[in-house]
Amino acid sequence: MKILLVGNGGREHALLWKLTQDAPDATFFATRPNPGMAPLARAVDLAPDDVEGLASWAEGNDVNLTIVGPEVPLARGIAGVFGRRGLPVFGPTSAAARIESSKAFAKELMQRNGVPTAAYRCFTRWEDAERYIQEEGAPLVVKASGLAAGKGAIVCTSTEEALEAAREMLEESAFGDAGREIVIEEFMEGEELSVFAITDGRHVVPLLPSQDHKPIGEGDTGPNTGGMGAYAPVPSGTRELVQRVEEEILLPVLDAMEAGATPFRGLLYAGLMLTADGPRVVEFNCRFGDPETQVVLPLMDSPLLELMVAVARGGSIAGAEVEWMEGSALNTVLASEGYPGSYEKGHEISIPEAISADPDTLIFHAGTRLEDRRMVTAGGRVLSVVGLGRDLEEARNRSLAGAEAIDFTGKTFRGDIGWRAFAPGPG
Ligand code: AMP
Ligand code: GLY
Repeated sequence: MKILLVGNGGREHALLWKLTQDAPDATFFATRPNPGMAPLARAVDLAPDDVEGLASWAEGNDVNLTIVGPEVPLARGIAGVFGRRGLPVFGPTSAAARIESSKAFAKELMQRNGVPTAAYRCFTRWEDAERYIQEEGAPLVVKASGLAAGKGAIVCTSTEEALEAAREMLEESAFGDAGREIVIEEFMEGEELSVFAITDGRHVVPLLPSQDHKPIGEGDTGPNTGGMGAYAPVPSGTRELVQRVEEEILLPVLDAMEAGATPFRGLLYAGLMLTADGPRVVEFNCRFGDPETQVVLPLMDSPLLELMVAVARGGSIAGAEVEWMEGSALNTVLASEGYPGSYEKGHEISIPEAISADPDTLIFHAGTRLEDRRMVTAGGRVLSVVGLGRDLEEARNRSLAGAEAIDFTGKTFRGDIGWRAFAPGPG
């Protein structure tokens, strides 16, 4: 079997790590793999969003399955292009990917179908947004409707901040085309949870819930990033909760997408807020989360590949079950100083042998590159250091030991990943 993985970040490294265990005899290919992925896959020198180029390459090389990691190629229609050429692909069509690529679309779908989420309004004109913000008052969340690499949501505790955020998006194109339409929504209070569900369009197989930490600073302070760390399992992510999420959120959304002639097949990611009134949707993504994938997949005892093959071939996953290992995983992201703003690249990375050789510490690469045989930084999020352990504390200690021991100029990380699970008492 020949499998092409599209994408080359930390999430794709973790996917490749899992899939190569599921299918040791398969031949794996990856688009411009990072140095961590390179030993596991043959390199295809095409950009992950070169949709037409990848389809021709897959056709010419008899690829049996293509798995798409990031949202951009999905939003650009990679699934449709592959589908029209009869090439099995895991990932939704661009019409279905709108659940992530247009927050306006996602909010409307939820509202029409009674899926719990924050109250909201959409705006394209600054004057209208200004009036609404003045009327509502803070706290409010101002979001670019389009794709913004996880950075397009601004949680505003003051009305001035909300006005500023909306004005920058609508009047100053702070997020380019992604912010030409904005969503302004009610602030929801609670703990966040990421639930990934593999779906054939009708049935879902939810994976183990995880918790991401989006703000750059410890104590959840500062601007939002793509995610600075994650852990699983999460104490609040019980079986009963997942059941409720399936019934109240995932299945109604899938039914609505099918009824709208845009069935969603692939990985549906529900970003939830666990409010006093129950789970409510913060956002949907049309792909696996990063950095949550790096902690969810190492705990998965069942193969992932079988489910992906079934979905990619248009089959059914009804009744499929996934087994999970005992124990916990916690991931600390090492970022470049300055991220999520501008940052330097090209700093040499050193990973001590004691860390890279430890079977309970997994290092997934994201923004790394080889330069004259030296590994150097090449992105905002550089590495994920995943600690595995019998419990969350052991996992955290391993992750932190790795995060401290790995070195590069400007290394920035949060030492408090998982803090909610360690906090005393409820809340
Ligand atoms: P999003 O890009 O929509 O996932 O938002 C990024 C982050 O902003 C989320 O993970 C939350 O931490 C925060 N956020 C977004 N929407 C809300 C909301 N309505 N209430 C509170 N926090 C939110
Ligand atoms: N970790 C959040 C995301 O993948 O969008």
